[in-house]
Amino acid sequence: MNSFSYRDGALFAEEVAVDAIAEQYGSPCYVYSRAALEQALSAYQNALEGCPHLICYAVKANSNLAVLDVLARRGAGFDIVSQGELERVLAAGGDPARTVFSGVAKTPAEMARALEVGIHCFNVESAAELEVLNRVAGSRNQCAPVSIRVNPDVDARTHPYISTGLRENKFGLGVAEALPLYRQAAMLPHIEVLGLDCHIGSQLTELSPFIDALRRLLRLVDELAAEGIAIRHLDLGGGLGVRYRDETPPAIEDYIAAIRAELGERELPLVFEPGRSIAANAGLLLTRVEYLKQTPEHHFALVDAGMNDMIRPALYQAWLDIQPTRRHREGRQALWDIVGPVCETGDFLGKQRELSLQQGELLAIFGAGAYGFSMSSNYNSRPRAAEVMVDGDRVHLVRERETIAGLMDLEQRLPH
Ligand code: LLP
Repeated sequence: MNSFSYRDGALFAEEVAVDAIAEQYGSPCYVYSRAALEQALSAYQNALEGCPHLICYAVKANSNLAVLDVLARRGAGFDIVSQGELERVLAAGGDPARTVFSGVAKTPAEMARALEVGIHCFNVESAAELEVLNRVAGSRNQCAPVSIRVNPDVDARTHPYISTGLRENKFGLGVAEALPLYRQAAMLPHIEVLGLDCHIGSQLTELSPFIDALRRLLRLVDELAAEGIAIRHLDLGGGLGVRYRDETPPAIEDYIAAIRAELGERELPLVFEPGRSIAANAGLLLTRVEYLKQTPEHHFALVDAGMNDMIRPALYQAWLDIQPTRRHREGRQALWDIVGPVCETGDFLGKQRELSLQQGELLAIFGAGAYGFSMSSNYNSRPRAAEVMVDGDRVHLVRERETIAGLMDLEQRLPH
């Protein structure tokens, strides 16, 4: 089932025409499908049936409370990287005991809060962090459950900005350094060794880097076991890619099946931290064409969403499908550059798109459910977009459009 589809030439989100959403809530507007979120989560859950596991949705991909709520109700856990994300999980009814805390620079205050609410595990990324965590846990008379994030040095073959598992990256520790750190962790009074963790990158479209990483991790599990350090879960991170254009990432089912096959008879509980593969294709961004403009070199469609709303094309040269919400033959047929109102040449959403466009019409930018709104900003003093969640034939406003007055709420002029 595709949650976004054309019916008689009009784009629908589940049972709702998206034009009606823009009519009511304005544009730009993010539109999420509850069914699509649930479907992606179920794909992980079904594929993992019979294997002890925890699916920790990576909150950074889309941290809207309604998104977290929908996933929490279906039994998801969460992967967080800040106290802000932790508080969101709690506010959305998420279970702290099913939450793992990743990130290279957790502060003592963040650690203390995570200990207070009882998270499942800290994914520790350095010796210095382990020491601070031991101290913070000690001051609270607690024991912090940890995994050490290992950098298995495999090439994820994805965009360099979202590749994290190579030795040169800031993330995790090399396999050689992880071993002594585990020995140390096992001796620290306020640390409890729980698991082993890795995350090698995002938007991976092949299985082999995941399998290579898993093999290296399993070798380490055995080495640790030989020293009497038992690893009680394996956290394989997130990273599974999605289809934006013509990519052919493995299906969630095939990805999990390949991992289960590699694990063989081992009875090691698995943790996953998927973000994009849950949320990307569960959301689109609606934007209106303000003007059409022709220069000697280009046809520009100037739209009301900019790089502040969706930065992925500008930041990673990401390609997102852009289509009118009503299929028609009117308008001007050309190769259009779809560009936003922000004062930067890099402010584009798509380039050289063969479309027939009309001033005033609505466009849908697909694949915008992950790393869309969550990476948005107020650059150029633009209030951030509204977000709605469609559920069957109902539309829920899940974040109001920001106001211009709100942009200045925290600011003050100097005293006279
Ligand atoms: N776990 C950790 C520790 C991570 O750093 C990430 C993503 C994930 C899980 C989730 O990965 P996913 O399943 O979504 O690939 N802004 C970029 C993506 C950055 C990903 C950062 N870490 C983009 O828009 O492509």
